[in-house]
Formats: sequence, structure tokens, C-alpha cells
Amino acid sequence: MKRVAIIGCGAIGSEIARAIDEGYVEADLVALYDVIKEKCEELASKLTKCKPLIASSIDEVLATSPNIVVEAASQEAVKQYAEKVLKSGADLVVLSVGALMDVELVERIKEAAREGNARVYVPSGAIAGLDAIRALRKVGIERVLLRTRKPPKSIKPCETLKFDPSKVVQPTVVFRGKASEAVKVLPFNVNVSAALSLASGMDIEVEVVADPTIEKNVHEIIVESKASRITIRIENVPSPTNPRTSYLASLSAIELLRKLCSGSGYEIVVGT
Ligand SMILES: NC(=O)c1ccc[n+]([C@@H]2O[C@H](COP(=O)([O-])OP(=O)(O)OC[C@H]3O[C@@H](n4cnc5c(N)ncnc54)[C@H](O)[C@@H]3O)[C@@H](O)[C@H]2O)c1
Repeated sequence: MKRVAIIGCGAIGSEIARAIDEGYVEADLVALYDVIKEKCEELASKLTKCKPLIASSIDEVLATSPNIVVEAASQEAVKQYAEKVLKSGADLVVLSVGALMDVELVERIKEAAREGNARVYVPSGAIAGLDAIRALRKVGIERVLLRTRKPPKSIKPCETLKFDPSKVVQPTVVFRGKASEAVKVLPFNVNVSAALSLASGMDIEVEVVADPTIEKNVHEIIVESKASRITIRIENVPSPTNPRTSYLASLSAIELLRKLCSGSGYEIVVGT
């Protein structure tokens, strides 16, 4: 049975831990780590079968010899721990995909993965269609557009995105630009833009619309290539414990782990 450790015991980390505890993912949960130790303790107290070590450092996590470490913490956590995890020989599942827009960090991560003979896995997260986008790279992709629609109150104005959510009375474009720019100025849109850029190998187009007519977060993805024109629309329900995170992001990571841990139900692998 694969040994799994989780870094980050928030919305996503907790869902994953529960899925292992319930046996939905056939794995041993060997360690939990969070900068806020109480988060680990609270999560561990709710698990019925698994008795993971509550680690105080990444070294303590790695001392439990995990085969897979799941990062469900922050971009900072990817910067801090990815290389160490990979050099130890453990595979790494990265949820904070925005960190992988840093070209220098990615080079160091690749080097560490080669050294440890390990792999980095990026689940589809809050969207769908990365498999098809990757497949289309062989014939060339002409365009990828991500249009994210959110209720105005879910779009946090910041230094680089100045608007007043209470004054938006009709759908209004608040950002239009490239993913490389979006990851710098739109912290809430970072992971989806980054995952699409990594899958397509392009600096994709991003549009963010403050839409007072909707309640859910909606991602529309348009892909144009010689082989296919794809339109994907995803309407995401927020995670019950973190409204900034779509529930689908947790479910996607759980499904990836099921595959990596090759539990029952994976005699036939569907999807690339
Ligand atoms: N790939 C996707 O589609 C997708 C979707 C949603 C969220 N995310 C990302 O996944 C990550 C987790 O999301 P969440 O909703 O579970 O967040 P959350 O805020 O609910 O939980 C994150 C936890 O990680 C801990 N943490 C943060 N930095 C840490 C560090 N350096 N070391 C150890 N622990 C640390 C925090 O204390 C917190 O308990 C975030 O970076 C988020 O942006 C990705």
C-alpha cells in the first residue's frame, strides 16, 4: 500500500485525508504537516482509522518514508519543500500550481525530480479538459482563452485591480491579459491560469468578469487548434470549508491519488 503524507490541512488537505480514512483512496496516511499545528490536530481527531504522525517539520514528514507527498498549502510551501520532497524519492502532488509559473523554480524542481527519480503531478483541480489540451500540443494550439465569471463580491479588489464590487450592476470585464500577468495580479485566479498554461505550453489569454447575475464561480475555456475547437464551461460550487476553493479541486486531487495508489476500480484506466 502506498504511503501518503499531506502538507496543508485546510479545505483540500482535509478532504483528501478523509478520503484516505474512508478507504476511498487505498493508501496509508502516514503524516500531516501544517504551519498551524492545531489544524493537523483537529483533522487527525476526526479520522477514525488513520493515525498519521503530526509532523513539526518537513524533515519529520520525510522521516515517515512517504511514497507520495501532497502539497495542499500555498505557493510558498511549493518553494520551501518541493525540492526536498523530490530528492527524498517521494512523488509530489502540487495543488498550488501558480508556483510552477516561476521558470527558475521549475528548473530546480525538475533537477530534484531527476535526482530522486521522482515525479511531480498536477491534478486538473478546479477545471476540466487538461488532457485534451495536452493531446492537442502535437498538432499545435492556436489559442487558449480562459474567461472566469465570478459574483463581484468574490473578486477581491487589490492594488492592481481597482474596482468597487458594490457598484457593479451588469457583467463587467475587470481584467483582460496574459496568464503571466494574471498570476501576478489576480491571486484568486492563479491556479487555473497556471494549469492551462502548463498544459498548453502557452501564455494563455485570461479574462475576468465580475457578474452580478451569478452565484457560482464559472470558468469558460476556449481552445482553438487544427484538430479541434473545444469549449468547456465549468460551474463550481465552493468548498464547504473554504469558499475561495472549488469543491471540484479537492475531488480532482482525490481522484489523482486513487489512480496513483492504484486502488480497486483502476483495472481499466479511463482518460489520458
Ligand atoms: N489547482 C487548483 O485548481 C486549486 C484550486 C483551489 C485551491 N488551490 C490551491 O491549493 C492550496 C490549498 O487550498 P485550500 O483551499 O485547501 O487552502 P486553505 O487555506 O483552506 O488551507 C491551506 C493550509 O495550508 C497551510 N499552509 C500554508 N502555507 C504553508 C506552509 N508554507 N507550510 C505548511 N503549511 C502551510 C495553512 O496553514 C492552511 O491550513 C492553495 O494554495 C490554493 O490556492 C488550487
